[in-house]
Amino acid sequence: PERPYVIDEMISAKTIAARIEALAQEIRLSFAGTDKLILVGLLRGSFVFIADLVRELDLPVEVDFLEASSYGDAMQSAREVRILKDLRGEISGRDVLVVEDIVDTGFTLSHVVHLLEGRQPRRLETIALLDKPSRREVPVRASWTGFEIPDEFVVGYGIDFAQRNRNLPYIGKVRFIE
Ligand code: PRP
Ligand code: MN
Ligand code: MG
Repeated sequence: PERPYVIDEMISAKTIAARIEALAQEIRLSFAGTDKLILVGLLRGSFVFIADLVRELDLPVEVDFLEASSYGDAMQSAREVRILKDLRGEISGRDVLVVEDIVDTGFTLSHVVHLLEGRQPRRLETIALLDKPSRREVPVRASWTGFEIPDEFVVGYGIDFAQRNRNLPYIGKVRFIE
């Protein structure tokens, strides 16, 4: 990005970890008895969240990834979701949990849910660490949400600004200076 900015912490690493523990508990109960759960992480943003979530899940799980992109390096959604890498495995007849970092306009999650529904999973649920309901353009809601946040441009914990800041251990908001 051309304009200089600083990042103000919004959700600490500790708070995120505690929330993920609670979410994992709910997911474990909801999928109790299944021997077929597959977590599908949406690259790239969800790579940190899925890594932490899967280690809190006391269930037999498989992990797969789908690469979807709508923002590229821009601050605004292109409203057109590109699938850059498909799943490696089949999901027909499987219990699937799509893992997303953030739902903003909703284009990405809605596109992916429609795509995967077409493959006849037995059950398809979604989890998003963050939700910005005030920005929604497509009516979609994750089955589980970590935190509802206001309309701020956030980075960290997997989320980028023009591919940077994914490595921050917390969620921060971008504040332009000058
Ligand atoms: C970001 C974010 C979500 C999506 C949310 O992905 O990780 O996947 O946008 O926005 P939406 O609800 O408006 O569709 P991005 O396209 O930036 O790709 P990335 O995950 O590789 O950063
Ligand atoms: Mn993404
Ligand atoms: Mg991005």
